[in-house]
Order: sequence, then C-alpha cells, then structure tokens
Amino acid sequence: MKHTHIIEAQQFNKRALQEILSAADHIRERAERNLPLDLLKGKLLGNLFYVRSMRTNLSFDCAMKRLGGQVTPIDFPEEFSSELSGGGFEDTIRVVSSLVDLIVLRHYQSGSAKRAADISSVPVINGGDGPAQHPTQALIDLYCIEKLKGGIDGVSIAFIGDLLNSRTVRSLVYFLAKYSGIKVSFASPRALRIGEDTQGYLRENGIPYGESVDNAEELQDIVSGADILYLTQIPAARFTAHPEDYARSREIFRIDRELLKIMKKDTYIMHPLPRDYELPGEVDGDPRAVYFDLIRYGQFLRMGLLCLVLGVSAD
Ligand code: CP
Repeated sequence: MKHTHIIEAQQFNKRALQEILSAADHIRERAERNLPLDLLKGKLLGNLFYVRSMRTNLSFDCAMKRLGGQVTPIDFPEEFSSELSGGGFEDTIRVVSSLVDLIVLRHYQSGSAKRAADISSVPVINGGDGPAQHPTQALIDLYCIEKLKGGIDGVSIAFIGDLLNSRTVRSLVYFLAKYSGIKVSFASPRALRIGEDTQGYLRENGIPYGESVDNAEELQDIVSGADILYLTQIPAARFTAHPEDYARSREIFRIDRELLKIMKKDTYIMHPLPRDYELPGEVDGDPRAVYFDLIRYGQFLRMGLLCLVLGVSAD
C-alpha cells in the first residue's frame, strides 16, 4: 500500500480492505495500551481543501498530529492563490506535492482526485470529490460495521435518503460489493434514486439489492429488517421546482421515536454527518444510534491509513 493513491472504492480488493482495517486495529491497540504513537514524526501532510469540510479536515489533521507528524492546512486555495489567473489546478498540485509528504484533497469536481494523482509526486488521498466518491469516510463506515456486527460478510444494509448525490453511499456500496452474503436495500425519493452506475456495479458483482421509492410502508419493512440503516440528508435545494415533494419526502425518510420501536435490538443507525431533519435529537440517546461513535472509529482508521500510505508499519 506504500505510496498508493487513495482515489476510489473500486481500486481495492478485499485483501487490501482487510489490510486497512487491520492497520486501524493496530493503531487502536497502541492507543489503548498507551504505546508510542509517533510513527510519522518528521512527515508533513498537506490538507488541501477547495470546499468546506469540518469532519474530514479536522479528522485528518488530528490523525496526523497524533502520529507525531505535522499538517499544513491549505483551505480554499482559489481565494488566495493565482490558480484562477493562470497555472490552474494541476500546477497547484505540482507545487504542493513538491513541499509535503502526502496530500488529502477535498474538491468540488468529480474526478479531481484522479487528476491530482496523475501528476502528484506524493500520494493523494481523496477527501471527497464532488458527488463522486469519499473513500475514507466509507472505510470508516466499513470499519464501524465490522466492529459493531463482528464482521462484514452477511450484513444487510439499507441506504436511506438522497442516494443520487451521496458520495459516501457510492463508495460504501462499492466496498461492500467485495464481501459475501451482503444484502442491500435502497429507499429514496423518486428524484434522488440510487444511480445506475452503482446498481450496475452491484449486478456485476452478484450482490442482491432492492429499491423502494417514495413509499413509507415499504420503508417500515426495510427499517425492521436491516442490520444497518445508513441515512443521508435530503437537501431542500434538490426540490426547488417542487417544494411539496420535499415536504413529503422529508417526513417519509426520517428515523424518529416510532421507527426506533420497530427496529431490531442489534440494528445500528449510521450517518456520515452533517445530519438534519432525517435524524432528530430524540434518536441520539438510543444505544443503536452510532453516528457520533463513527468519529472515534474514524480517527483510528485514518491514522492507520496514513501509516500504510507512507509505508510505516503500525504493528
Ligand atoms: N462526513 C464528512 O465528510 O463531513 P465533512 O463534509 O464535514 O468533511
């Protein structure tokens, strides 16, 4: 994995995924046993964020610093650099990669991480490229599922909300397709259905999946049967032409106290955050609501990943 760019979920096979999850375990063990964690002393991370982020930016920053490394934050480079007047994105990547040991990139354009990786002299980690992919968030989700369910093979997962524009859903589905016995359900408003690219990937990999559109009754069946409920926000901005559809959709695709009653005792609610109406505060106290636990899992996962990419063993 040394010097591997982390661009999209399709690039990994199951063995590589298990290597990443094991690295997270090693970091977690070190932390719990108070063993030294300064594995990346002397290394410098360039956190290159063209669009806003709280969790990914902060989490990589903390992960690098906990490993003894340093971080150079480069927030909204188009606002202070000459990128727009000449040179462009590629030149920015050439400059940044000449100065740091690896780059985490958040960008508004699909495919930007691949563009960066094609010219960067150091590894590039995709921290979210437009609506396309967010592989490290999905790795965190995968790690969380493994820990909560005792494994990933055989898990049934329901994706609920805006499935068309969710990069974390796409990345996680692609990861899950490497495992056996996975069952997938999609539940969304008609305007935000899961993309044909994701459905095609599941078909190619022989993963059974079902889809429910705009249907509150079917959602109840899905919620009561799945092992994992993976929620995403339904943004009002996607419904500007049909505000009445938004008002109806936000009521359907929402986990509240009533739906908690029909969930199995060992079904977990996940969400990449930020959350909105789909996950009201009344759900937070339920032991099955694990969306804030993901932040802690994420720290171990991203620390392990940084070590792997920089070729440093966390064993
Ligand atoms: N989950 C996530 O990617 O959050 P941010 O947009 O705050 O990084």
